[in-house]
Order: sequence, then C-alpha cells, then structure tokens
Amino acid sequence: PRVAVVFGGRSSEHAISCVTAANVLQAIDRDKYDVIPIGISTSGHWVLESGDPDRLSITDGKLPEVDVTALPVLFGANRELVVNDPGSVPNTLGEVDVVFPLLHGPWGEDGTIQGLLEMSDIRYVGSGVLASAVGMDKHFMKVVLQAAGLAITPYVVIRDRDWTRDPQASRDAVAALGYPVFVKPARGGSSLGISKVNSADELADAVAAAQAHDPKVLVEAAARSPREIEVAVLDGPAGPEASICGEITVSGGGHEFYDFETKYLPEGDDFAALSIPADLPAELAATIRAQALTAFAAIEGEGLARVDFFVEPDGRVVVNEINTMPGFTPKSMFPLLWAASGLDYPALVDRLITLATT
Ligand code: DAL
Ligand code: MG
Repeated sequence: PRVAVVFGGRSSEHAISCVTAANVLQAIDRDKYDVIPIGISTSGHWVLESGDPDRLSITDGKLPEVDVTALPVLFGANRELVVNDPGSVPNTLGEVDVVFPLLHGPWGEDGTIQGLLEMSDIRYVGSGVLASAVGMDKHFMKVVLQAAGLAITPYVVIRDRDWTRDPQASRDAVAALGYPVFVKPARGGSSLGISKVNSADELADAVAAAQAHDPKVLVEAAARSPREIEVAVLDGPAGPEASICGEITVSGGGHEFYDFETKYLPEGDDFAALSIPADLPAELAATIRAQALTAFAAIEGEGLARVDFFVEPDGRVVVNEINTMPGFTPKSMFPLLWAASGLDYPALVDRLITLATT
C-alpha cells in the first residue's frame, strides 16, 4: 500500500510534528509500504518532502521545519496526489491508499484535515472529524468526559469577547476556582501558551499568553502535588486496548510543570523523568487503564490516543485530557508505553496503518 505521511502544519506544534514524523518515517516497513512524505509548511503550503529524519529532528536546540521550497502537491479527485504546479510534467504522483496525518494541534489534530480526507474519500489513521475536534478543544473535551462519568478538574472558559467586555466577571470566576490555576489555550498542545498562575495579579499576562495561541482560554484549578499518569490507547480488531501506565515527574530548574522544554529539549532531561511502568498499586493502575478506555469511547476515538491523568494525594483519579494524535518523538510517552507493553515501534506503526486500511 501507498502511505502518505503528512506532517508539519500551521499550528504552533509544527516542529514537534516534524520530530514525530521523523520517528514514524524511520519505523515504517519500507518493504511493505510505499511511503510518501508530505510536509505542510507553517504558511499552509503542501509539499513533497524528503522526509530526511536528520533534518526533521531537534539538533542543538534548533527546532525543525518543513522545507517549503520542495515540490508543491495537493490531493485531487480519485485519491490522487497531484503536483500543484501548472507547468509540471508529470502532474500526478498517483493514488494514495492511506494518509497518516501526523499533525499536532489545530489544522491537523482537530478534525480539519480529517474532514478534507473524508471529502476526498481517502482513508486515514486515527480519529474522525468529531473525535478529533472534541479531543482538541479542552473545553468540549471536559464536557464530554464529564458526561461519561469521569472526574475532571474544575475549570472556567474565558472567550476573548468575555475578557474584553467584562474581565472582572472572568476574574471572579477564576478566583472562585481558587489559586493556583493553570491558564491554557483551549485548542493547543505541547504545553505551548500554558502558564501556572499563583495569584490574581498574574492572570492578565497568562490570559494574553494563552490568547496568542487561541482566542478561547481555559483556566483550571491546579491540584496540590498530584501524580501525573499517562496511558496509551490503541484500537485493534478486538476493540481498543490500554497500555500499562507511565508516570511523569517534573522537578527543579524552575519548571513548575511538564512544559515544552521538559517535554522535548535535551536540557529538559535533567528535570523530567518518565517511569514506565508507573509505580502504582495494581488496583489503581487497573482503574486508570479502564478510565482511559472510557475516555476513548466517550469521544468516539478511533485508532489511537493518549489519555493523561492526575492522581491526587488522596488517591482520587482525575482525567486531565485526551490527545487524539499524541507525540511520537523519542521522548514521547505513547510509543514508549507500547514498547514497554510489548509492541515495538515498527509493529505499532504497522498496526495503526493496518487499522486504517481495513
Ligand atoms: N500534543 C503533543 C504532541 C502530545 O500530546 O504528545
Ligand atoms: Mg493535548
């Protein structure tokens, strides 16, 4: 089968998508699949990328980018990948069987490319339009997860119009949650635009930082010293399965949470540790894994997801979020959890593509 791996994109997670793609491109079985790397530039241009893993990695702290000067392409009718250049001969690259949309954040993980592929009748890896959109929007995600009976963190939504017209109402609502709080872009990822806010006088700056990513902002009560546990969910012929639990511990270096630096940059390694499996009582681990499957079903997820939890000091389990296209970087939990659960990287990628084609 011909697999188009699509990466980059217009969101602030462009670089992380490139790193994810570098890893997936290295893990795909080239004897089995004919792979076409397609980059989407930060400006939204689609190109036939080289997919060179070295160029798509974080090197010396420099974040990678799609090569916008490569040959422009787009999807035409009949699942055909077309050269988007009037003078080009040949002007078609042939049919694509399945797309692996390795895009994080808005315009990729949020149902938009999924909608485009549905309209073009092209199969793709992962969740459909609705699940992707719900998984991207931390507000509607909470509405859906709560309706499924899962415990969530108390929150307040601040839309740009609320903040412009009546900031005091938002301030009062946030004060009622109780400080400290996390202020987040509603539709973001990789911790970009997120701040931990300890008092009311820091709120305005944090809202502005989040609004730089999304006019809709979510404010969440910050639990006191929760443990951070993640579970990877993978679909299969017999239904979705939950991986073992992993734990993230962040401390030192002024990092108050699992931020962009601790997630991806080499210097972050000194301050964030991943424990796989998480050291949890068996019963608690089973509860969390079951809740991961509940969250996946609640949004009607397909293919894959990573579900992130907090375990509070009293043992209460709270779902933080679900990610429908989790990172596949060398430091990302999703592939590491599956590797530790007995499914190595190439087998994981093969399973995801197979699921999309059957
Ligand atoms: N948004 C990042 C890529 C993640 O969830 O892993
Ligand atoms: Mg997320």
